[in-house]
Amino acid sequence: MNAISILFINEEQLHRFAAAFAQCLTKGDCVALEGDLGAGKTSFARALVQSLQPTPDDVPSPTFTLLQTYPVQLKHGIAELWHYDLYRLKNEEELEELGLNDALEHAVTVIEWPAIAARYLPSDTLYIRIDKQQDEFARLWHFSYPSRWQHYFDILHTQGWISQ
Ligand SMILES: Nc1ncnc2c1ncn2[C@@H]1O[C@H](COP(=O)(O)OP(=O)(O)OP(=O)(O)O)[C@@H](O)[C@H]1O
Ligand SMILES: [Mg+2]
Repeated sequence: MNAISILFINEEQLHRFAAAFAQCLTKGDCVALEGDLGAGKTSFARALVQSLQPTPDDVPSPTFTLLQTYPVQLKHGIAELWHYDLYRLKNEEELEELGLNDALEHAVTVIEWPAIAARYLPSDTLYIRIDKQQDEFARLWHFSYPSRWQHYFDILHTQGWISQ
């Protein structure tokens, strides 16, 4: 597992990062987003989806629906992005009803509040923890990524997103 951190000074910078990151994604990728209420998990998921659509959909928070799905144009072709918010999930058995296994196999899966699903997530899941900062617009992102993601982070590095 590798770890890096990136400081985003505002949401506009995060959106530019999301657009660059989205270009790396392929089917079967799973991104788990951790962080407090208002950290910016949904903001990131929304920016990912919208940057992968010719005509961007509305991307509401799946706070109550727990899951929203979107068609997206990945570099290898058309796919779906499944956006979960498991904050209100009571029981891990409901993950099957929410199609988690299908998502992990066929889609790009983005999960807010992933803790309840931890033992169902693949070992090559990318974990991102978002920490709010004193500056209300800044966020410090901590990435923990297995080797599946190394190539993506190499690309992000050459684009200047990662300094070390
Ligand atoms: N740098 C930033 N990155 C992300 N969001 C930011 C940033 N600066 C300010 N914001 C604001 O913070 C809020 C983040 O809300 P968002 O719904 O994305 O949080 P969340 O982590 O999904 O929360 P929840 O756990 O309730 O789902 C938005 O109002 C957004 O405009
Ligand atoms: Mg959210």
